[in-house]
Amino acid sequence: RKRIVSGVQPTGSIHLGNYLGAIKNWIELQNTYETLFFIVDLHAITLPYETQQLSKATRDTAAIYLACGIDTSKASVFVQSHVRAHVELMWLLSSATPIGWLNKMIQFKEKSRKAGDENVGVALLTYPVLMASDILLYQSDFVPVGEDQKQHLELTREIAERVNYLYGGRKWKKLGGRGGAIFKVPEPLIPPAGARVMSLTDGLSKMSKSAPSDQSRINLLDPKDVIANKIKRCKTDSFAGLEFDNPERPECNNLLSVYQLISGKTKQEVTEECRDMNWGAFKTLLTDALIEHLHPIQVRYEEIISDSAYLDGVLAKGAAKATDIADVTLNNIYQAMGFLQR
Ligand code: TYM
Repeated sequence: RKRIVSGVQPTGSIHLGNYLGAIKNWIELQNTYETLFFIVDLHAITLPYETQQLSKATRDTAAIYLACGIDTSKASVFVQSHVRAHVELMWLLSSATPIGWLNKMIQFKEKSRKAGDENVGVALLTYPVLMASDILLYQSDFVPVGEDQKQHLELTREIAERVNYLYGGRKWKKLGGRGGAIFKVPEPLIPPAGARVMSLTDGLSKMSKSAPSDQSRINLLDPKDVIANKIKRCKTDSFAGLEFDNPERPECNNLLSVYQLISGKTKQEVTEECRDMNWGAFKTLLTDALIEHLHPIQVRYEEIISDSAYLDGVLAKGAAKATDIADVTLNNIYQAMGFLQR
């Protein structure tokens, strides 16, 4: 079976963008593919963070995966730092990654500009190499992510190709390796809708965990009244009726798309249903649909998070399975790069 990996950072709370852009799509993929989903705690320390919050946020994120429908009889769920091979491979990959490739990363440029030079650790720059390691360790075929991770996926592909070129093929054979490429070159899976959910307060910027105002996002664990209040206060416009794809109406397009994905309707159905609606009526419809969709997830989350023995068991089993796969790749690359075998 083809293999899929993906992950979310345990920083702030998981929001509708993470859900519609990534997690919700994982649920369907786990039926067809071999899937590994991790919580990328090592990525979460690349900007200043609260040490007291990290382990709680990591557990919460795992519980949210399960509450959203990740089924541990099909998928492996684990914590990135529990599989040491991620950091180890990253060092090897970083020797084959030109700094120029990293300097071009949009997320690095944006995050470092915001943080200011004194706060930018080296890890913020090398962050995409760790991400490449997360993916290449498992010889992944596909990586389901939102639009904002596309550039990191392209970099991952370039690193894989470069390592295959530098150390794979005939050279590797001479060192006793079994032929072929060291790494499979993975492909991103970016959903046709939901890949870029926008902020509730500005239809031109993406919904993000780090935006200062909580009003800009719907968190998966927001209580009903908070959801209702955020939708009530979200930005709209003063055009008549509602429509998709009008570039002058980014908020309208975003809210209709969210409604479409959450309700499970087609774009055509939503277009017909909402064409002649005013904002008041639509906001009620959207609020109800969000609450109906998120409420069962929240109930399951509460059950899972309160059963810590169960959650620990899931994460231990996931880490053991992941370690088995990762160690094979790691041994191969050490061999291919000419290290003395243990
Ligand atoms: P992170 O934690 O920022 O986001 C997790 C996932 O959510 C998607 N996403 C969105 N999708 C649609 N609309 C939005 N507004 C939105 N905001 C976020 C992201 O595209 C992502 O799929 N570097 C990654 C985590 C990572 C990873 C990996 C992912 C580390 N290693 C290996 C895949 C494979 C990140 O920071 O995602």
